[in-house]
Amino acid sequence: MFSKGVRAELKDYQSSIMSETASFTIDGTVYDYPVITGTEGEKSIDIRRLRGDTGYITYDDGYANTGSCTSSITFIDGEKGILRYRGYDIEELAEKSEFIEVAYLIIYGELPDRDQLVSFRNLILGNAAIHQSMFHSFAGFPASSHPMAILSAMLNSLGCYYPHMATNNREQDLEHLDIAATILISKVRALAAMTYRMKLGRPFIYPKGQLSYCSNLLHMMFSEPYADYTARSRVDRALNLILLLHADHEQNCSTSTVRMVASGGANLFASVAAGVCALWGPAHGGANMAVIEMLEAIHNDGDDGTRFVEAAKSGDRSKRLMGFGHRVYKNYDPRAKILKEASKKLFSSMRKPDPVLAIALKLEEVAASDEYFIERKLYPNVDFYSGIIMRSIGIPMEFFTVLFSIGRMPGWIANWKEVATGKSPIHRPRQVYIGSARRKFVPIEQRG
Ligand code: ACO
Repeated sequence: MFSKGVRAELKDYQSSIMSETASFTIDGTVYDYPVITGTEGEKSIDIRRLRGDTGYITYDDGYANTGSCTSSITFIDGEKGILRYRGYDIEELAEKSEFIEVAYLIIYGELPDRDQLVSFRNLILGNAAIHQSMFHSFAGFPASSHPMAILSAMLNSLGCYYPHMATNNREQDLEHLDIAATILISKVRALAAMTYRMKLGRPFIYPKGQLSYCSNLLHMMFSEPYADYTARSRVDRALNLILLLHADHEQNCSTSTVRMVASGGANLFASVAAGVCALWGPAHGGANMAVIEMLEAIHNDGDDGTRFVEAAKSGDRSKRLMGFGHRVYKNYDPRAKILKEASKKLFSSMRKPDPVLAIALKLEEVAASDEYFIERKLYPNVDFYSGIIMRSIGIPMEFFTVLFSIGRMPGWIANWKEVATGKSPIHRPRQVYIGSARRKFVPIEQRG
């Protein structure tokens, strides 16, 4: 990490009364920087004064070693397979709570009491309606549009209907945050369902007061004016779990994007619209689609998964087992464990089992006993099971990431709130310039 003449040394003063510092020796001079210790003992070196003191910056392509903020929302220990929202274990939340309650927890920091939950729910339901003018916007999109492009555009447009909440004046936007949060949680679901209906050329379906958040999403997607779709409780529960498990995941690509946009002072609507764009990529929110594409390809090849696992060990990136491995989790992804159990319950009640499920289970079984995967700590990640569950519910593949966005909305809102209420300056990383050195302009007739 450190070039010629630069040496880093961590001094541990934990046993003494002095606070911990880290010392850098740069060009022969020693510089001390404070060590910040997180709630769970995670350590970071506070280098905010580094460039001013030394003229040096740090280089960390991909930010894998860079803490871009302090946050009190989510804790992950990838080595131990731990994920907690606001201090609560994900396993306990998945078992005892539901998406809307967890959304409240993530945004406000505490579990709601009964009255708070009822009022939060009512606000979400009460804000489900979409302004009639927005219906016209859908007519402007070709049916072939990707739903993530529509979702991002429509979330940003939504701010135009609430100009007093999307002012880019911090104080004013914060004053309306409670209502803006419920508008977004409610309308991201409506916009997703409307996009689905528009692409099919079917009329939009309005939500119903008596339905849960997830049942309403399915109703708005799959009901027809002449025939109601009624979600089975197992389906409602499985979708609830998927949204709950995606509600936040610390400083990933899309959440960092939301914080980056927010750091410039942009309003909540604009910031979450940017988050949707960041989530769209196949290395981030799009991986759940890749799992299904892989399982379908294995099925179409007449393989039961055994041949594919062998090929995945070749080291060829294009043959990787999609839905396996994780940049942070070097142990079982706790979300995958929960979804695996949920998928078993869901599939046991299905009359005609999905052939890709058998392949998925076989892949996991083969990989779990194969040295290659054991040595490299490659376990199924959340995308492995979420894609299979969504497919079994009837969600089309290109909507998988849209559902991920619905789940992630509380996390984006909470992260926007941390930036908006904090003192962090605009996010503006530096770079190491490696382009041409200074040179003179060459007139066009002299260019070879
Ligand atoms: N299948 C086969 N081999 C794999 C896989 C896989 N899915 N993942 C990693 N490996 C192997 C690599 O070939 C490498 O082997 P080597 O040591 O012999 O060279 C070793 O494991 C380490 O691989 P890295 O790419 O360095 O691991 P990293 O932690 O950087 O990558 C990643 C994590 C990108 C998720 C990777 O495991 C992968 O590509 N998985 C498949 C895609 C996927 O499921 N993505 C979703 C992630 S979850 C999310 O974003 C919500």
